[in-house]
Amino acid sequence: MITNMKIVATAATILLTTTFVAQTATADADLAAGESIAYSCLGCHGIDGYRNAYPSYRVPKLGGQKATYIEIALKGYREGTRQHPTMYGQANSLSDQQIADVSAYLATLAADTVEAGGSEAAGFEKAQACTACHGNNGVSVNAMWPTLAGQHEDYLEQALHAYRDGTRNDPVMSVQAQLVAEKDIALLAKYYAGLEGLETTKAE
Ligand code: HEC
Ligand code: HEC
Repeated sequence: MITNMKIVATAATILLTTTFVAQTATADADLAAGESIAYSCLGCHGIDGYRNAYPSYRVPKLGGQKATYIEIALKGYREGTRQHPTMYGQANSLSDQQIADVSAYLATLAADTVEAGGSEAAGFEKAQACTACHGNNGVSVNAMWPTLAGQHEDYLEQALHAYRDGTRNDPVMSVQAQLVAEKDIALLAKYYAGLEGLETTKAE
């Protein structure tokens, strides 16, 4: 009888402990778990100049990008508001918790320039329409919006075209991209890519 009660008590304790651990994990990002997930991501995002095959453009830099934006981007691929077969495959295998973990980990590999809020002043008149959200120097003013400074030129161009042709959808940016003249897309991409900011993600 006593033995039985002990077993029941132990089982209850284990159950309580497990529930507690599970709840803690949902509330906070687990950096160690994020690091092990990120290992496979760096196979593409950690290699300088690594390219997407068709169409050909460089894999975006994540070093210094905001954690909240990385999370939004991964959920976008998973849910189809951003269409990209490779990134769908990556994001679709991740739970919300794993997305939070890997985003938080990748954000710890931040570029110092981005953390300091950028180093250059606005210098391109066509970018005036973008500064309210992407910052005076391409460093975003809100964790939900991406930093553009230092990003690969061909990726920025690709992204702006994707908003315009509807393969990428966002209530805010899809509208903004329609307002940009086709001939200015390349100029804006060149301008933002030339600013000091994001870096190719490297494990530390
Ligand atoms: C096989 C190469 C490859 C692997 C592996 C990979 N990615 Fe990507 N990733 C890409 C490409 C290509 C893009 C650009 C897709 C597009 O045009 O939307 C991208 C885009 C992204 C973006 C959007 C960045 C932005 O500025 O909007 C995020 C965030 C991202 N990847 C995170 C991850 C994470 C996290 C992992 C690991 C779980 C991962 N990627 C694994 C190739 C890869
Ligand atoms: C009102 C706010 C706002 C303004 C103004 C704005 N953007 Fe954005 N931009 C966003 C948001 C939000 C996103 C992320 C949307 C998503 O998740 O796809 C974004 C994403 C982008 C991206 C994709 C970055 C990446 O890493 O994938 C590019 C490129 C971009 N904007 C360029 C511009 C340019 C150029 C202008 C000015 C002509 C501009 N934006 C104006 C809010 C804005």
